[in-house]
This record gives sequence, structure tokens and C-alpha cells, in this order.
Amino acid sequence: MYKIFETVDDVSRYTAQRLLAKIQAMPRAILGLATGSTMEPVYAKMLQDLQHQPLDVSQLTTFNLDEYIGLSAQHPQSYNYYMHQHLFNQFKIPEHNVHLPDGLAADIEQACLAYSSAIQSRGGLDLQLLGIGSNGHIGFNEPQTCFNSRTHVVELSEQTRIDNGRFFSDQNEMPTHAITMGILDILEAKEIILVATGPNKTDIMAQLFHSAVDEALPASALKQHSNLTIVLDREAAAALPEHALNSVI
Ligand code: F6R
Repeated sequence: MYKIFETVDDVSRYTAQRLLAKIQAMPRAILGLATGSTMEPVYAKMLQDLQHQPLDVSQLTTFNLDEYIGLSAQHPQSYNYYMHQHLFNQFKIPEHNVHLPDGLAADIEQACLAYSSAIQSRGGLDLQLLGIGSNGHIGFNEPQTCFNSRTHVVELSEQTRIDNGRFFSDQNEMPTHAITMGILDILEAKEIILVATGPNKTDIMAQLFHSAVDEALPASALKQHSNLTIVLDREAAAALPEHALNSVI
């Protein structure tokens, strides 16, 4: 199902409300969370809404999609740091319920196995929030990632290094590898919300719309999911065919 809104603000308000409604209905929910610039206004809206709509988040558990290899939790570009800055410092989930892959794990392969197992042992993700890369990646599952994958190490594509290099003052500091939940971990979530905004996502959203389920376009795996909402602003939806827009707005 597509939900298309005029502005980023509208997209973020809608997405934040969906997350808060989930928590209200399921205080013990297991949430899969994402980072990136798309999610910043979503988390900001959640925090804003929580000022008027207090919620008990003490029983909530979260698993983030991914983390750079080689960055500590204190590194300002690590996803651990991002999540605390944009959400967890104010959204007081007990720290032991917050999970991100460990980019400094001594045994990375073991850490990957343990991450997928930890999700499964809690009965899987109740809701997974996703952004999308301009090359169609979800999490850091780059094109050609096997759709049966679990949490694993990836070498970041050239496109992703260019896209995400903007967050690093020195491009050479941008890590070459990351840990990401696998496509199968994502597909096993009971509900998925994919959010894309802005002109940088126009082309990939049109490609995704037309694509078959194909490992060349990781986000196309989501077409197999029975509870998927794709939330777009006008700009990200700009190259969807007219008939699609008419039917979805
Ligand atoms: C981040 C993640 C990535 C981003 C994607 C879009 O945790 O999993 O897939 O969602 O790279 O990033 P932005 O929102 O910065 O365009």
C-alpha cells in the first residue's frame, strides 16, 4: 500500500503516529529501527508527539538495522550515536532493550549470528521501519544481496559510499564495511513501513514500482510482504506513473 503526502513534514507526522500507535497497542513490541536523514524528522515528530501523548516505553525492545564496522558507539557518525542523539536520549527505553550491531565486535561473524538469533528468540520484529538507498538498498543490503540472508557483513557499494560520505567531514573516514540485518530478517517482520522523501529518491521509487522481485534491487524483496506500507512525499513519488498516483492518493 502506498501513502503519498505533500511534504516531508506530513510524511514524518504520519510515520511517527504509526510507530506511536503500535507502541500504544503493543507496549512490549519489538521494533526494527533505521537511521539516515529520512528518519531524523520522523524521530523528531515522535519526540514532539510524546510531549502531548505520554507513553510507557519501559517494556519496548528495539533492533537497529545496521552499523558501520570500525566505528565505536561514541563516534559521532556511528549509528549507535545517531540513535541516542535523535531518539534514545529522550525516548527512555531501558538500555538493555536497545540493540544495534556492534561494529567493533572481536568476532564479527559470531556477532552477526547472535544478532539474528536475538531477534528470532524474541519472536521476530513486530514492525520494521525502513529507508531506502538511491541504489535500492534496505538496511545495508546492497544490490545482489541474497534474499535469504541473515545479519551479515557487507562491503558498501561505491554509490552508498558517495551518498553517505556527506555525513563525514573527511570522505576517507567513511567506513568501507558495515554489518546489516539480512533481507530475510527484514521480511520476517510482521509489518513493514518504508519511507522515502526528496528528489534523490524519485528514480529509485519509480524503478521499485516497475521492478519484479529481483536481487538486483534489494527493496523489491518487500513486494513479497503482505503488510507493507510505502510512505512517500510528492518529490519521491514524482516519477510514479499517473495511474498509480491516482489510485493511491
Ligand atoms: C539506515 C539504513 C539505510 C538508509 C538509506 C537511506 O539505517 O538502513 O538503508 O535507510 O541509506 O538513507 P537516507 O535516509 O539518509 O537517505
